[in-house]
Amino acid sequence: MTELNHKYRWWQEGIIYQIYPRSFQDTNGDGIGDIPGIIIRLDYVQSLGVTAIWLSPIFPSPMADFGYDMSDYQDIDPLFGSLADFDVLLTEVHNRGMKLILDLVPNHTSSQHPWFLESRSSLDNPKRDWYMWHDARPDGSPPNNWLSVFGGSGWEWDELTQQYYYHGFLKEQPDLNWRNPAVQDAMFTAMRFWLDKGVDGFRVDVIWHLIKDKQLRDNPVNPDYKPHMATYDQLLPVYSTDQPEVHDLIRQMRQLVDLYEDRLIIGEIYLPVHQLMAYYGVDGNEVHLPFNFQLLLLPWEALQIATAINEYEQALPVNGWPNWVLGNHDRPRIASRVGTEQARVAALFLLTLRGTPTLYYGDEIGMRDVAIPFEEVQDPQGLNMPEKNLSRDPERTPMQWNSQLNAGFTEGKPWLRLARDFVRQNVDQQQADPHSMFTFYKRMINLRQREPSLNVGDYRPIHSDAQLIAYIRHAENAPRFLIVLNLSHSPGYLTLSGRSLTGVVEIATLPEWEGFSISESISLGGDEGILVRLTT
Ligand code: GLC
Repeated sequence: MTELNHKYRWWQEGIIYQIYPRSFQDTNGDGIGDIPGIIIRLDYVQSLGVTAIWLSPIFPSPMADFGYDMSDYQDIDPLFGSLADFDVLLTEVHNRGMKLILDLVPNHTSSQHPWFLESRSSLDNPKRDWYMWHDARPDGSPPNNWLSVFGGSGWEWDELTQQYYYHGFLKEQPDLNWRNPAVQDAMFTAMRFWLDKGVDGFRVDVIWHLIKDKQLRDNPVNPDYKPHMATYDQLLPVYSTDQPEVHDLIRQMRQLVDLYEDRLIIGEIYLPVHQLMAYYGVDGNEVHLPFNFQLLLLPWEALQIATAINEYEQALPVNGWPNWVLGNHDRPRIASRVGTEQARVAALFLLTLRGTPTLYYGDEIGMRDVAIPFEEVQDPQGLNMPEKNLSRDPERTPMQWNSQLNAGFTEGKPWLRLARDFVRQNVDQQQADPHSMFTFYKRMINLRQREPSLNVGDYRPIHSDAQLIAYIRHAENAPRFLIVLNLSHSPGYLTLSGRSLTGVVEIATLPEWEGFSISESISLGGDEGILVRLTT
């Protein structure tokens, strides 16, 4: 490995911005975002101050799950552009000093992938064992009780060859059999293809699903299941996910990535903290960043979140680098979950915690989930369980660039409708407004990237109660910062006496706070948060 000049890697000091390509910028009028669209918006992304872009899948796909069903691992879907467009994108990202992270979807392919077409063609096809084919039980029922995340059984009957195949997601997304070395080789070849082009890393889709119990044992019933939950949650996926053997596979992926200079693997993993930590590997030999989704999943309550931060910090392995995620294409947007005012507190939170922040396109202008009428729902998760309100369309609506036609996203008919208020809530408006969410994000990002304490310093909790969280960020020989956040809507009070902490508010959700000196006590209004540059 090459010696780095820096003590920290780019992905430790950096900030990741997730783009959902379908919804970022359309350039050909088909109502769907594309790679040339991303290219023309790179200056915007750079101006925000983020340092890396993660793109949701842009590869050939029948789009049953909007790209998470891939039919070719080494090409670009014509809907998004061409390989030539991709090469330009990569160069342009690098020219701006940013990094590009691609989505890798190794757990399953599309049912239209040539591998699966071959595999399903006959029992003795050489690729038969590339997928999880099994006989029915004597009564004709599926091999076991495993469920699909998107509803119903995880097993689909194939008339032609009289066997079931397993799909943890849609039946159009058959799971690969990762116990087969030929499958491993094929996926490693795909990874090399993109690494050779110079991509800076992968976000690996559902990495904890990769390998399943060899004996296909039934999953146990979830005693905490409630009817409003997705049907998948009726069982605990103890045999269909998070198997011990997954770690061997991830180590192999990591070894491959380590043959290239300074590349990154992020793992998408929804697991409790202690199981999550195993994905850093022994001496950090698995993923660099197992996504930490606690800010997405926990109720927005100060005590619970403060406790979770401490548990997470304590559970991290030596040299394990933390990370925090505030939004993604699978979960309701932060502004809808906690409210527009509180979303600023959330931004201040994300950007002052210790560890790499990932933010979701549009959250920087406070975009909200858009109500999508039943007849316009596109997301398979929403369509398959219509009574449960689980559609992910609301958080995937087009980026609101300006107050013109379709918010400047497309000249055609957008694939998902836009927010009703885009004329007032858009990038153009907010860039011109010193008090907008955009300006707030930009200033915070800028400060985080400038100040070592915020960028890579320690996290020291100093207080939490039912409303407030307060902590200090501190790096050696650098100014320290105190952050006090009110996660509730009502006023909250913090006494500092005896702590000898004094300083001046540098950035606050409410601009009137800025420049104010802090010493004895702090009275924060509801939905307020402050960042104080400490002088003692
Ligand atoms: C991941 C993706 C999600 C997708 C699923 C199946 O959770 O984030 O969008 O539907 O995997 O690939």
